[in-house]
Amino acid sequence: MNTDTISIVGLGKLGLCLAAIYAYKGKTVIGVDLLPNMIDNINLGRSPIVEPDLAGMISKVGGKKLLATLEHNRAIAESDITIVITATPSMPDGSFSNDHVEDALTKLSLSLKNSTKPYHLFVISSTVIPGSIEGSFIPLIERHSGRKLSQGFGICYDPDFVALGSVIKDFMNPEVVIIGESSSKDGKLLEILHVSICDNSPQICHMSLSSAEIAKVSLNAYITLKISFANLIGNICDKIQGANPDDITGAIGLDKRISPYYFKAGLSYGGTCFPRDTWALNAVLKRHNIPLALMQACQAINAYQDKSLIDKVINLVKQVNAKTIGILGLAFKPGTPVVTESPAIKLIKALHKEDLQIVAYDPLAQENTYAVFEDRIDYAGSIAECLSRSSLNILTIPSKEMAKDIYKYQGTALLLDCWRILNKDTLPKNIKCFHFFQG
Ligand SMILES: NC(=O)c1ccc[n+]([C@@H]2O[C@H](COP(=O)([O-])OP(=O)(O)OC[C@H]3O[C@@H](n4cnc5c(N)ncnc54)[C@H](O)[C@@H]3O)[C@@H](O)[C@H]2O)c1
Repeated sequence: MNTDTISIVGLGKLGLCLAAIYAYKGKTVIGVDLLPNMIDNINLGRSPIVEPDLAGMISKVGGKKLLATLEHNRAIAESDITIVITATPSMPDGSFSNDHVEDALTKLSLSLKNSTKPYHLFVISSTVIPGSIEGSFIPLIERHSGRKLSQGFGICYDPDFVALGSVIKDFMNPEVVIIGESSSKDGKLLEILHVSICDNSPQICHMSLSSAEIAKVSLNAYITLKISFANLIGNICDKIQGANPDDITGAIGLDKRISPYYFKAGLSYGGTCFPRDTWALNAVLKRHNIPLALMQACQAINAYQDKSLIDKVINLVKQVNAKTIGILGLAFKPGTPVVTESPAIKLIKALHKEDLQIVAYDPLAQENTYAVFEDRIDYAGSIAECLSRSSLNILTIPSKEMAKDIYKYQGTALLLDCWRILNKDTLPKNIKCFHFFQG
Protein backbone atom coordinates (compact mmCIF):
# COMPACT_ATOMS: atom_id res chain seq x y z
CA MET A 1 0.00 0.00 0.00
CA ASN A 2 1.24 3.46 -0.87
CA THR A 3 1.13 5.71 2.21
CA ASP A 4 3.05 8.65 0.71
CA THR A 5 -0.23 9.94 -0.73
CA ILE A 6 -3.53 9.94 1.16
CA SER A 7 -6.92 11.45 0.41
CA ILE A 8 -9.25 13.35 2.72
CA VAL A 9 -12.94 13.83 1.84
CA GLY A 10 -14.60 16.82 3.54
CA LEU A 11 -12.44 19.94 3.91
CA GLY A 12 -14.44 21.66 6.65
CA LYS A 13 -13.43 22.89 10.09
CA LEU A 14 -11.70 19.60 10.93
CA GLY A 15 -10.96 18.06 7.53
CA LEU A 16 -9.02 21.05 6.24
CA CYS A 17 -6.88 21.17 9.38
CA LEU A 18 -6.18 17.45 9.08
CA ALA A 19 -5.35 17.77 5.37
CA ALA A 20 -3.04 20.72 6.07
CA ILE A 21 -1.20 18.83 8.83
CA TYR A 22 -0.66 15.69 6.73
CA ALA A 23 0.58 17.84 3.83
CA TYR A 24 2.76 19.93 6.15
CA LYS A 25 4.28 16.73 7.56
CA GLY A 26 5.23 15.59 4.04
CA LYS A 27 2.37 13.53 2.63
CA THR A 28 0.79 14.37 -0.69
CA VAL A 29 -2.86 14.94 0.16
CA ILE A 30 -5.77 14.80 -2.29
CA GLY A 31 -8.47 16.89 -0.57
CA VAL A 32 -12.05 16.47 -1.84
CA ASP A 33 -14.99 18.75 -1.11
CA LEU A 34 -18.22 19.82 -2.83
CA LEU A 35 -17.66 23.59 -2.63
CA PRO A 36 -15.87 25.00 -5.72
CA ASN A 37 -15.01 28.27 -4.02
CA MET A 38 -13.35 26.46 -1.15
CA ILE A 39 -11.36 24.26 -3.54
CA ASP A 40 -10.13 27.30 -5.51
CA ASN A 41 -9.06 29.15 -2.37
CA ILE A 42 -7.15 26.18 -0.96
CA ASN A 43 -5.31 25.63 -4.25
CA LEU A 44 -4.34 29.31 -4.22
CA GLY A 45 -2.91 28.88 -0.72
CA ARG A 46 -5.76 30.70 1.05
CA SER A 47 -7.59 29.13 3.98
CA PRO A 48 -11.39 29.41 3.88
CA ILE A 49 -11.54 28.30 7.55
CA VAL A 50 -10.45 30.26 10.64
CA GLU A 51 -8.32 28.20 13.06
CA PRO A 52 -5.05 29.12 14.76
CA ASP A 53 -2.01 28.26 12.55
CA LEU A 54 -4.18 27.03 9.65
CA ALA A 55 -3.71 30.04 7.34
CA GLY A 56 0.09 29.77 7.59
CA MET A 57 0.02 26.05 6.80
CA ILE A 58 -2.37 26.42 3.84
CA SER A 59 -0.23 29.21 2.39
CA LYS A 60 2.70 26.75 2.33
CA VAL A 61 0.93 23.55 1.17
CA GLY A 62 -2.19 24.70 -0.71
CA GLY A 63 -1.94 23.78 -4.41
CA LYS A 64 1.40 22.04 -3.75
CA LYS A 65 1.39 19.10 -1.28
CA LEU A 66 -2.35 19.63 -0.65
CA LEU A 67 -4.28 19.33 -3.89
CA ALA A 68 -7.95 20.22 -3.50
CA THR A 69 -10.51 18.86 -5.95
CA LEU A 70 -14.22 18.34 -6.50
CA GLU A 71 -13.62 14.85 -7.91
CA HIS A 72 -14.04 11.89 -5.57
CA ASN A 73 -12.54 9.52 -8.11
CA ARG A 74 -9.16 11.23 -7.70
CA ALA A 75 -9.16 10.01 -4.08
CA ILE A 76 -9.44 6.42 -5.29
CA ALA A 77 -7.17 6.80 -8.33
CA GLU A 78 -4.32 8.63 -6.57
CA SER A 79 -4.31 7.16 -3.05
CA ASP A 80 -4.80 3.84 -1.23
CA ILE A 81 -6.18 5.37 1.97
CA THR A 82 -9.15 7.78 2.18
CA ILE A 83 -10.20 9.58 5.35
CA VAL A 84 -13.88 10.61 5.28
CA ILE A 85 -14.58 13.59 7.54
CA THR A 86 -17.77 15.16 6.23
CA ALA A 87 -20.38 16.74 8.50
CA THR A 88 -22.92 14.53 10.32
CA PRO A 89 -25.65 17.04 11.26
CA SER A 90 -27.90 16.41 14.27
CA MET A 91 -31.41 15.13 13.61
CA PRO A 92 -34.51 16.18 15.59
CA ASP A 93 -34.22 13.08 17.84
CA GLY A 94 -30.57 13.88 18.68
CA SER A 95 -29.02 11.20 16.47
CA PHE A 96 -26.72 12.15 13.57
CA SER A 97 -27.52 12.12 9.88
CA ASN A 98 -25.12 9.89 7.93
CA ASP A 99 -26.26 11.37 4.59
CA HIS A 100 -23.01 13.25 3.77
CA VAL A 101 -20.80 10.31 4.79
CA GLU A 102 -22.93 7.93 2.73
CA ASP A 103 -22.89 10.29 -0.26
CA ALA A 104 -19.08 10.40 -0.07
CA LEU A 105 -18.79 6.62 0.40
CA THR A 106 -21.17 5.97 -2.51
CA LYS A 107 -19.08 8.12 -4.88
CA LEU A 108 -15.83 6.58 -3.64
CA SER A 109 -17.18 3.01 -3.87
CA LEU A 110 -18.48 3.49 -7.42
CA SER A 111 -15.06 4.74 -8.36
CA LEU A 112 -13.44 1.75 -6.62
CA LYS A 113 -15.65 -0.57 -8.64
CA ASN A 114 -13.99 0.69 -11.84
CA SER A 115 -10.50 0.57 -10.35
CA THR A 116 -7.98 -2.23 -10.90
CA LYS A 117 -6.22 -1.63 -7.60
CA PRO A 118 -6.47 -4.63 -5.26
CA TYR A 119 -7.31 -2.89 -1.97
CA HIS A 120 -8.44 0.45 -0.54
CA LEU A 121 -8.63 1.47 3.11
CA PHE A 122 -11.55 3.70 4.13
CA VAL A 123 -11.07 5.61 7.38
CA ILE A 124 -14.21 7.15 8.86
CA SER A 125 -13.42 10.15 11.02
CA SER A 126 -16.84 11.83 11.24
CA THR A 127 -18.77 11.43 14.48
CA VAL A 128 -21.42 8.77 13.86
CA ILE A 129 -24.14 7.03 15.84
CA PRO A 130 -22.77 3.73 17.22
CA GLY A 131 -23.59 0.87 14.88
CA SER A 132 -23.36 2.98 11.69
CA ILE A 133 -20.23 1.41 10.25
CA GLU A 134 -21.23 -2.25 10.65
CA GLY A 135 -24.94 -1.56 9.99
CA SER A 136 -24.78 0.92 7.08
CA PHE A 137 -21.33 1.83 5.74
CA ILE A 138 -19.86 -1.64 5.12
CA PRO A 139 -23.00 -2.92 3.31
CA LEU A 140 -23.07 0.33 1.28
CA ILE A 141 -19.43 0.02 0.18
CA GLU A 142 -19.90 -3.68 -0.65
CA ARG A 143 -23.02 -2.90 -2.69
CA HIS A 144 -21.50 -0.06 -4.73
CA SER A 145 -17.95 -1.36 -5.15
CA GLY A 146 -18.88 -4.99 -5.80
CA ARG A 147 -16.10 -5.95 -3.37
CA LYS A 148 -16.09 -7.79 -0.04
CA LEU A 149 -14.78 -6.40 3.27
CA SER A 150 -11.18 -7.50 3.98
CA GLN A 151 -10.82 -8.73 0.40
CA GLY A 152 -11.11 -5.63 -1.82
CA PHE A 153 -11.27 -3.01 0.93
CA GLY A 154 -10.87 -2.42 4.66
CA ILE A 155 -12.45 0.08 7.01
CA CYS A 156 -11.34 1.78 10.23
CA TYR A 157 -12.86 4.34 12.56
CA ASP A 158 -10.56 7.13 13.73
CA PRO A 159 -12.61 9.55 15.85
CA ASP A 160 -11.27 13.05 16.56
CA PHE A 161 -10.97 14.44 20.06
CA VAL A 162 -10.15 18.00 19.06
CA ALA A 163 -11.67 21.29 20.14
CA LEU A 164 -12.45 24.23 17.86
CA GLY A 165 -9.95 27.00 18.50
CA SER A 166 -7.10 24.50 19.02
CA VAL A 167 -7.79 21.94 16.27
CA ILE A 168 -4.25 21.85 14.88
CA LYS A 169 -2.57 21.72 18.27
CA ASP A 170 -5.00 19.00 19.41
CA PHE A 171 -4.55 16.91 16.24
CA MET A 172 -0.78 17.02 16.69
CA ASN A 173 -0.80 16.35 20.44
CA PRO A 174 -3.57 13.86 21.22
CA GLU A 175 -3.70 12.23 24.65
CA VAL A 176 -5.20 9.11 23.16
CA VAL A 177 -5.71 7.75 19.65
CA ILE A 178 -8.67 5.36 19.37
CA ILE A 179 -8.62 3.04 16.39
CA GLY A 180 -11.68 0.99 15.51
CA GLU A 181 -10.64 -1.63 12.96
CA SER A 182 -12.15 -4.22 10.64
CA SER A 183 -8.82 -6.10 10.75
CA SER A 184 -5.63 -5.74 12.80
CA LYS A 185 -3.63 -5.23 9.58
CA ASP A 186 -5.73 -2.17 8.68
CA GLY A 187 -5.62 -0.91 12.27
CA LYS A 188 -1.82 -1.15 12.34
CA LEU A 189 -1.57 0.76 9.03
CA LEU A 190 -3.82 3.51 10.39
CA GLU A 191 -1.79 3.66 13.60
CA ILE A 192 1.42 4.31 11.62
CA LEU A 193 -0.35 6.97 9.56
CA HIS A 194 -1.97 8.69 12.54
CA VAL A 195 1.19 8.69 14.66
CA SER A 196 3.10 10.32 11.76
CA ILE A 197 1.28 13.62 12.45
CA CYS A 198 1.69 13.54 16.25
CA ASP A 199 4.35 15.67 17.93
CA ASN A 200 3.87 13.63 21.12
CA SER A 201 3.63 9.90 21.90
CA PRO A 202 -0.06 9.28 22.56
CA GLN A 203 -1.60 6.11 23.97
CA ILE A 204 -2.99 4.04 21.08
CA CYS A 205 -6.09 1.96 21.79
CA HIS A 206 -7.23 -0.60 19.20
CA MET A 207 -10.76 -1.94 19.39
CA SER A 208 -13.75 -3.01 17.30
CA LEU A 209 -15.49 -0.51 15.02
CA SER A 210 -18.56 -0.37 17.26
CA SER A 211 -16.53 0.10 20.46
CA ALA A 212 -14.69 3.04 18.90
CA GLU A 213 -17.99 4.61 17.83
CA ILE A 214 -19.32 4.35 21.39
CA ALA A 215 -16.02 5.65 22.85
CA LYS A 216 -16.19 8.78 20.68
CA VAL A 217 -19.67 9.84 21.77
CA SER A 218 -19.04 8.80 25.39
CA LEU A 219 -15.95 10.95 25.88
CA ASN A 220 -17.67 14.25 25.11
CA ALA A 221 -20.82 13.20 26.96
CA TYR A 222 -18.73 12.40 30.05
CA ILE A 223 -17.07 15.84 29.91
CA THR A 224 -20.50 17.50 29.82
CA LEU A 225 -21.35 15.57 33.01
CA LYS A 226 -18.21 16.94 34.62
CA ILE A 227 -18.91 20.52 33.52
CA SER A 228 -22.47 20.17 34.79
CA PHE A 229 -21.24 18.93 38.15
CA ALA A 230 -18.99 22.00 38.49
CA ASN A 231 -22.00 24.15 37.59
CA LEU A 232 -24.05 22.33 40.22
CA ILE A 233 -21.42 23.32 42.80
CA GLY A 234 -21.58 26.92 41.51
CA ASN A 235 -25.35 26.94 41.88
CA ILE A 236 -25.09 25.71 45.48
CA CYS A 237 -22.49 28.43 46.21
CA ASP A 238 -24.91 31.00 44.84
CA LYS A 239 -27.38 30.12 47.58
CA ILE A 240 -25.03 29.76 50.56
CA GLN A 241 -23.36 32.94 51.76
CA GLY A 242 -19.57 32.95 51.86
CA ALA A 243 -19.14 29.95 49.53
CA ASN A 244 -16.68 30.20 46.62
CA PRO A 245 -17.01 27.66 43.75
CA ASP A 246 -13.40 28.10 42.60
CA ASP A 247 -12.03 27.21 46.04
CA ILE A 248 -14.14 24.06 46.00
CA THR A 249 -13.51 22.83 42.43
CA GLY A 250 -9.83 23.88 42.75
CA ALA A 251 -9.44 21.72 45.88
CA ILE A 252 -11.42 18.62 44.95
CA GLY A 253 -10.03 18.77 41.40
CA LEU A 254 -6.62 17.99 42.93
CA ASP A 255 -7.90 14.49 43.67
CA LYS A 256 -6.69 12.35 40.75
CA ARG A 257 -10.08 10.62 40.55
CA ILE A 258 -11.61 14.00 39.62
CA SER A 259 -8.77 16.11 38.04
CA PRO A 260 -8.93 19.87 37.45
CA TYR A 261 -9.70 19.90 33.70
CA TYR A 262 -13.12 21.14 32.52
CA PHE A 263 -14.01 21.57 36.17
CA LYS A 264 -14.87 25.23 36.68
CA ALA A 265 -18.33 26.54 37.40
CA GLY A 266 -19.51 29.03 34.80
CA LEU A 267 -21.96 29.28 31.94
CA SER A 268 -23.58 26.46 29.98
CA TYR A 269 -21.43 24.30 27.70
CA GLY A 270 -22.00 25.07 24.00
CA GLY A 271 -20.34 24.67 20.64
CA THR A 272 -20.68 22.11 17.90
CA CYS A 273 -19.76 18.99 19.91
CA PHE A 274 -20.71 18.90 23.59
CA PRO A 275 -24.47 19.55 23.32
CA ARG A 276 -24.93 17.36 20.28
CA ASP A 277 -22.87 14.41 21.54
CA THR A 278 -24.94 14.49 24.74
CA TRP A 279 -28.18 14.50 22.72
CA ALA A 280 -26.76 11.69 20.58
CA LEU A 281 -25.97 9.51 23.57
CA ASN A 282 -29.54 10.10 24.73
CA ALA A 283 -30.82 9.00 21.31
CA VAL A 284 -28.74 5.80 21.56
CA LEU A 285 -30.04 5.12 25.08
CA LYS A 286 -33.61 5.69 23.95
CA ARG A 287 -33.21 3.42 20.93
CA HIS A 288 -32.06 0.58 23.20
CA ASN A 289 -34.48 1.23 26.10
CA ILE A 290 -31.71 2.14 28.54
CA PRO A 291 -32.60 4.72 31.29
CA LEU A 292 -32.02 8.29 30.11
CA ALA A 293 -31.92 9.93 33.55
CA LEU A 294 -28.18 10.70 33.75
CA MET A 295 -27.83 12.56 30.45
CA GLN A 296 -31.20 14.25 30.86
CA ALA A 297 -30.07 15.63 34.23
CA CYS A 298 -26.95 16.99 32.54
CA GLN A 299 -29.07 18.73 29.89
CA ALA A 300 -31.39 20.13 32.57
CA ILE A 301 -28.45 21.63 34.49
CA ASN A 302 -27.11 23.15 31.28
CA ALA A 303 -30.48 24.74 30.51
CA TYR A 304 -30.61 26.02 34.11
CA GLN A 305 -27.24 27.77 33.59
CA ASP A 306 -28.70 29.73 30.64
CA LYS A 307 -31.79 30.69 32.63
CA SER A 308 -29.69 31.63 35.65
CA LEU A 309 -27.51 33.96 33.51
CA ILE A 310 -30.55 35.60 31.93
CA ASP A 311 -32.24 36.08 35.35
CA LYS A 312 -29.08 37.58 36.86
CA VAL A 313 -28.55 39.98 33.97
CA ILE A 314 -32.18 41.14 33.96
CA ASN A 315 -31.96 41.65 37.72
CA LEU A 316 -28.87 43.82 37.27
CA VAL A 317 -30.53 45.70 34.41
CA LYS A 318 -33.40 46.60 36.73
CA GLN A 319 -31.08 47.57 39.58
CA VAL A 320 -29.09 50.05 37.51
CA ASN A 321 -31.85 50.93 35.04
CA ALA A 322 -29.62 49.91 32.11
CA LYS A 323 -30.83 50.51 28.56
CA THR A 324 -27.79 49.35 26.58
CA ILE A 325 -26.02 46.09 27.41
CA GLY A 326 -22.49 45.32 26.26
CA ILE A 327 -21.78 41.69 25.44
CA LEU A 328 -18.07 40.89 25.54
CA GLY A 329 -17.70 37.48 23.88
CA LEU A 330 -20.14 36.06 21.33
CA ALA A 331 -18.59 32.69 20.52
CA PHE A 332 -19.16 29.75 22.85
CA LYS A 333 -15.56 30.05 24.08
CA PRO A 334 -12.44 32.15 23.36
CA GLY A 335 -10.43 31.74 20.16
CA THR A 336 -13.19 30.50 17.84
CA PRO A 337 -15.75 32.11 15.51
CA VAL A 338 -18.34 29.42 16.36
CA VAL A 339 -21.54 30.73 17.97
CA THR A 340 -23.51 27.45 17.93
CA GLU A 341 -25.25 26.99 21.33
CA SER A 342 -23.31 29.97 22.64
CA PRO A 343 -24.59 31.31 26.00
CA ALA A 344 -24.04 34.87 24.71
CA ILE A 345 -26.36 34.34 21.74
CA LYS A 346 -29.08 32.91 23.99
CA LEU A 347 -28.63 35.86 26.37
CA ILE A 348 -28.94 38.42 23.55
CA LYS A 349 -32.18 36.77 22.37
CA ALA A 350 -33.61 37.06 25.91
CA LEU A 351 -32.47 40.71 26.26
CA HIS A 352 -34.10 41.59 22.95
CA LYS A 353 -37.40 40.42 24.41
CA GLU A 354 -36.88 43.06 27.14
CA ASP A 355 -36.37 45.72 24.43
CA LEU A 356 -32.78 46.35 25.47
CA GLN A 357 -30.12 47.66 23.08
CA ILE A 358 -27.09 45.43 22.55
CA VAL A 359 -23.51 46.42 21.74
CA ALA A 360 -21.30 43.40 21.17
CA TYR A 361 -17.57 42.77 20.89
CA ASP A 362 -15.91 39.59 19.62
CA PRO A 363 -14.22 40.26 16.25
CA LEU A 364 -13.61 36.57 15.52
CA ALA A 365 -17.30 35.66 15.99
CA GLN A 366 -18.82 38.85 14.54
CA GLU A 367 -19.59 37.43 11.10
CA ASN A 368 -21.38 34.38 12.51
CA THR A 369 -23.30 36.56 14.98
CA TYR A 370 -24.34 38.84 12.12
CA ALA A 371 -25.85 35.79 10.43
CA VAL A 372 -28.09 35.39 13.50
CA PHE A 373 -29.03 38.99 14.37
CA GLU A 374 -28.03 41.06 11.31
CA ASP A 375 -28.37 44.75 12.25
CA ARG A 376 -30.47 44.11 15.33
CA ILE A 377 -27.35 44.52 17.46
CA ASP A 378 -24.43 46.97 17.23
CA TYR A 379 -20.87 45.75 16.90
CA ALA A 380 -18.13 47.62 18.78
CA GLY A 381 -14.66 47.96 17.28
CA SER A 382 -12.90 47.57 20.64
CA ILE A 383 -13.46 46.58 24.26
CA ALA A 384 -13.17 50.26 25.23
CA GLU A 385 -15.93 51.22 22.76
CA CYS A 386 -18.19 48.45 24.06
CA LEU A 387 -17.62 49.43 27.70
CA SER A 388 -18.11 53.13 27.05
CA ARG A 389 -21.40 52.67 25.15
CA SER A 390 -23.06 50.29 27.63
CA SER A 391 -24.43 50.85 31.12
CA LEU A 392 -23.97 47.15 31.93
CA ASN A 393 -21.45 44.75 30.36
CA ILE A 394 -21.36 40.97 30.45
CA LEU A 395 -18.04 39.16 29.93
CA THR A 396 -19.31 35.79 28.68
CA ILE A 397 -16.04 33.98 27.87
CA PRO A 398 -12.80 33.56 29.86
CA SER A 399 -10.75 35.52 27.33
CA LYS A 400 -7.32 36.64 28.58
CA GLU A 401 -7.03 39.18 25.73
CA MET A 402 -10.34 40.78 26.65
CA ALA A 403 -9.35 40.83 30.33
CA LYS A 404 -6.10 42.68 29.45
CA ASP A 405 -8.07 45.38 27.59
CA ILE A 406 -10.56 45.71 30.44
CA TYR A 407 -7.68 46.36 32.89
CA LYS A 408 -6.44 49.16 30.58
CA TYR A 409 -9.84 50.88 30.36
CA GLN A 410 -9.84 54.42 31.78
CA GLY A 411 -13.59 55.20 31.87
CA THR A 412 -16.26 54.05 34.28
CA ALA A 413 -17.95 50.71 33.67
CA LEU A 414 -20.20 48.13 35.27
CA LEU A 415 -19.39 44.52 34.47
CA LEU A 416 -20.58 40.98 35.18
CA ASP A 417 -17.64 38.57 34.81
CA CYS A 418 -19.18 35.13 34.21
CA TRP A 419 -15.92 33.17 34.62
CA ARG A 420 -14.34 35.23 37.45
CA ILE A 421 -11.17 35.96 35.49
CA LEU A 422 -11.04 39.61 36.62
CA ASN A 423 -9.65 40.34 40.07
CA LYS A 424 -12.01 42.83 41.68
CA ASP A 425 -9.21 44.09 43.95
CA THR A 426 -6.77 44.99 41.15
CA LEU A 427 -9.24 46.35 38.56
CA PRO A 428 -9.18 50.14 38.06
CA LYS A 429 -11.41 51.76 40.75
CA ASN A 430 -13.80 53.14 38.12
CA ILE A 431 -14.76 49.61 37.00
CA LYS A 432 -17.37 47.96 39.22
CA CYS A 433 -17.31 44.20 38.71
CA PHE A 434 -19.67 41.44 39.83
CA HIS A 435 -18.69 37.80 39.66
CA PHE A 436 -21.11 35.14 38.45
CA PHE A 437 -21.97 32.91 41.48
CA GLN A 438 -20.55 35.33 44.05
CA GLY A 439 -22.45 38.59 43.57
N1 LIG B 1 -16.26 20.71 14.74
C1 LIG B 1 -15.83 20.05 15.82
O1 LIG B 1 -15.51 20.61 16.86
C2 LIG B 1 -15.70 18.55 15.77
C3 LIG B 1 -14.94 17.88 16.74
C4 LIG B 1 -14.84 16.48 16.67
C5 LIG B 1 -15.51 15.80 15.66
N2 LIG B 1 -16.24 16.49 14.73
C6 LIG B 1 -16.90 15.74 13.69
O2 LIG B 1 -16.16 15.86 12.48
C7 LIG B 1 -17.04 15.83 11.36
C8 LIG B 1 -16.78 17.03 10.47
O3 LIG B 1 -17.08 18.18 11.22
P1 LIG B 1 -16.70 19.64 10.70
O4 LIG B 1 -16.97 20.55 11.84
O5 LIG B 1 -15.36 19.64 10.06
O6 LIG B 1 -17.83 19.81 9.56
P2 LIG B 1 -17.95 21.03 8.50
O7 LIG B 1 -19.41 21.20 8.27
O8 LIG B 1 -17.14 22.20 8.93
O9 LIG B 1 -17.26 20.44 7.18
C9 LIG B 1 -17.76 19.37 6.44
C10 LIG B 1 -17.26 19.50 5.01
O10 LIG B 1 -17.64 18.33 4.30
C11 LIG B 1 -18.03 18.72 2.98
N3 LIG B 1 -18.88 17.67 2.41
C12 LIG B 1 -20.15 17.33 2.71
N4 LIG B 1 -20.55 16.28 1.97
C13 LIG B 1 -19.49 15.93 1.20
C14 LIG B 1 -19.29 14.92 0.23
N5 LIG B 1 -20.22 14.03 -0.07
N6 LIG B 1 -18.08 14.87 -0.37
C15 LIG B 1 -17.10 15.75 -0.09
N7 LIG B 1 -17.25 16.72 0.85
C16 LIG B 1 -18.42 16.81 1.47
C17 LIG B 1 -18.75 20.04 3.17
O11 LIG B 1 -18.81 20.77 1.98
C18 LIG B 1 -17.87 20.69 4.26
O12 LIG B 1 -16.83 21.47 3.70
C19 LIG B 1 -18.47 15.77 11.92
O13 LIG B 1 -18.92 14.45 11.97
C20 LIG B 1 -18.28 16.30 13.33
O14 LIG B 1 -19.24 15.80 14.22
C21 LIG B 1 -16.33 17.85 14.75
